[in-house]
Amino acid sequence: MISGSGSNMVALAESMAGDHPARPVLVLSNVPDAGGLAKAEALGIATAVVDHRAFKGDRPGFEAALTAALEAAAPDVICLAGFMRILTRRFTGRWAGRVLNIHPSLLPKYPGLHTHARALDAGDAEAGCSVHEVTEDLDGGPVLGQARVPVLPGDTPDSLAARVLVEEHKLYPAVLRRFVAGDRTPVLLG
Ligand code: GRF
Repeated sequence: MISGSGSNMVALAESMAGDHPARPVLVLSNVPDAGGLAKAEALGIATAVVDHRAFKGDRPGFEAALTAALEAAAPDVICLAGFMRILTRRFTGRWAGRVLNIHPSLLPKYPGLHTHARALDAGDAEAGCSVHEVTEDLDGGPVLGQARVPVLPGDTPDSLAARVLVEEHKLYPAVLRRFVAGDRTPVLLG
């Protein structure tokens, strides 16, 4: 599930090849013109859109529409990849144990937004990303993998984000591969 450029979705999709036991079945976006939708189509992956703006003030309706679109594809695992809407217990309960997310911080540090700016403001020597199971607690589920990068002199939120994104594209596929094999041993990179 995506909301934007879908670079993590592309990394995941491209990793599901050869002897990998999983294959992508759907790319679902809440944003009709998300750049990742064209990338998914170019990869031959079915796409769907559930525009959250059509459900203003009706979060249950939005989540029910997401679930309907997903049920049509019957996924075994759902990967949130740059998906920028909060999902409530209605959704996380329906798909419990099968939803992963990548978050651009070393959880439990910096749940929520603006993670790189917060790491820089705190003077952290390192930053990174985490893949975790999605529960009703925002960015709070069990961590299944982390990748660390150094914070360098002169770093800006953008330069740090770019360094972390490279690691995201390695970490998420590695975690997914273990997860689909039923292995929850955390993947630790960098
Ligand atoms: C990434 O920084 C990811 O950590 C966050 O969304 C950003 C964009 O990801 N969840 P993508 O390029 O849309 O996969």
